[in-house]
Amino acid sequence: MPGFDTLLPRPVSATPEPGTCRWPSPVHVRTAADLPAEGYRLRIAPDGVTLDAADSAGEFYGRQTLRQLAGPDAFRAASVHNAPAELPCGAIEDYPRFGWRGCLYDVARNFRTKAEVLRFVDLLAAHKMNVLNLHLTDDQGWRIEVPRYPRLTSVGGWRKSSMVGRHDGPERDGRPHGGYYRVADLREIVAYAAARSVTVVPEVDVPGHARAAIAAYPALGPASEHPWEVWTSWGISTSLLDPSESTLDFFREVFDHVLDIFPSPVIALGGDEVPGATEAHHRFVREIAAHVAERGRIPMGWDEVLDSGGLPAMLIGVWQDRERAELAVKDGHEVVLCPEDGVYLDHRQSDHPDEPIPVGYLQDLEHFYGFEAEPGPQVRGIQAQLWSEHLDTVRRTDYAAFPRLSAFAEVAWSSGPRDYAEFLPRLRDHHLPRLDALGVEYRPLDGPHPWQTRPGVPGRPR
Ligand code: ACM
Repeated sequence: MPGFDTLLPRPVSATPEPGTCRWPSPVHVRTAADLPAEGYRLRIAPDGVTLDAADSAGEFYGRQTLRQLAGPDAFRAASVHNAPAELPCGAIEDYPRFGWRGCLYDVARNFRTKAEVLRFVDLLAAHKMNVLNLHLTDDQGWRIEVPRYPRLTSVGGWRKSSMVGRHDGPERDGRPHGGYYRVADLREIVAYAAARSVTVVPEVDVPGHARAAIAAYPALGPASEHPWEVWTSWGISTSLLDPSESTLDFFREVFDHVLDIFPSPVIALGGDEVPGATEAHHRFVREIAAHVAERGRIPMGWDEVLDSGGLPAMLIGVWQDRERAELAVKDGHEVVLCPEDGVYLDHRQSDHPDEPIPVGYLQDLEHFYGFEAEPGPQVRGIQAQLWSEHLDTVRRTDYAAFPRLSAFAEVAWSSGPRDYAEFLPRLRDHHLPRLDALGVEYRPLDGPHPWQTRPGVPGRPR
């Protein structure tokens, strides 16, 4: 029977008492006004379980904690035992350190089916994470159905071929790749996530990272360079939207559609990596941000948008360097910290030659667990980033995300102090068996299984 010292993320306080409680047992749920948002209090006694919750999220998290205490098999899709389990008795009080505990999920570079997205929501929720930042559009694919503009998905929703690994050469795999979500699929994902206390924050990236849209509707791009195809390369494309009034009108409509599907208070407009940005591109960002803000939502942009100036109050995803966070806060914005040098799940996990498609610089498990960020009035939270150029299947996604995302989840939820030497056995002996039961193909702590390697596929140097 797992004890209170096996929980991940670690709770604020946990006091064991003698005895056990038969599980499953009825859970007596009460509302508690004295707990912080998303907080809960559990009392496990021989005669039953009481769960005091600040709100529906708190109740959900209390139940996640009970699931961990019931043992790894509680994470299977069906029971494999005939006899009831037992829970250890005692009291737990718990609430999160950050209100935004996010993960960016890139479904544009490599499409993830609806079923795969729902599964990822389950995995976030099991880790008490609460934001799925869904990156829906990029140079390599457009994944959201917009009924008024069907070519966005019929043309922009797939590409002829893909670069294998990362190189400067012309070789491609010759295999068409694509997929998109119908409006009803996205509404289903939103509702499924909401039932698990996860907010889906959609991202439509402008005015860079938009080549799939330009391939679909060439008038959105600069007249001189037609025609463009949905990009088959990785990297930063120089194909930018033509920042004209008609392109703005087009994207105002697209964002209205996004606002209609996604009830999230925050709507992301991208704004990153715009090579050769002109004042007209900055104005484009300002106008889309204002459009979102006028409709009562908070626009979110990557930290490059600070260069646009004249923005409404925004949420800034700080990924480049921490000075950008200071700049954002000085300008009156809130920030989510997601620095490339701290929490990029696509980066290599070891320097060993067997590490599959090693991109970026080393970010191993200990590096993720050591990620430091201080809560503050304008710091909404932290977010890990799962860019998918080199994650062509959900198996590769599992490998990249776990168990580093488990370490990140604890950083996001639990206050310090943190000690990697304490964390590692807790992860290895108690949390990896939960991931096994969930069917997650995580990276083993001592390196990839043979079938997880990608011999001969080049990576990107540091
Ligand atoms: C980013 O990594 N381009 C936000």
